[in-house]
Amino acid sequence: MSIYTSNGNERVLSQESFLVSETDEKGIIIFANDDFCQAAGYSVDELIGKSHNIVRHPDMPKAAFKDLWETIKRGETWNGFVKNAVKNSSEYYWVYATVFPVLRNGKRSYISCRKKPVADEIASSIDLYKTLV
Ligand SMILES: Cc1cc2nc3c(=O)[nH]c(=O)nc-3n(C[C@H](O)[C@H](O)[C@H](O)COP(=O)(O)O)c2cc1C
Repeated sequence: MSIYTSNGNERVLSQESFLVSETDEKGIIIFANDDFCQAAGYSVDELIGKSHNIVRHPDMPKAAFKDLWETIKRGETWNGFVKNAVKNSSEYYWVYATVFPVLRNGKRSYISCRKKPVADEIASSIDLYKTLV
């Protein structure tokens, strides 16, 4: 079953969807779950080993990711709204992401868990991100 419905170019996530990915210290994808792959339009094999900016949407301000990386490198958890691009298309989807550091067998990695935001949170993010670069 699809985890999203299409509304023009937007992939609107279902309430149940839960998108997870994990990167190494440099932001290279080392894990992606089925929901993440489906929303992004990639197979898991296409994502593993790629930089996470593979799903970056040009509407996202650099400042958001600067804040994300500074926060998780301090060992803290970052929360924020993210607009992601879909593979080879003008489609996109919005998520509310929680990104946090983990230490497994002495190795640092980062995990992002994402849920569907509510519509007015998306509207506020669009306004906010217009003011940032
Ligand atoms: C665990 C994790 C998940 C991330 N998820 C996304 C994501 O879904 N979309 C995105 O554009 N960037 C995500 N990033 C941030 C990217 O690493 C990158 O900083 C961002 O896409 C901007 O690209 P740039 O640093 O090349 O400018 C994530 C980073 C981490 C550590």
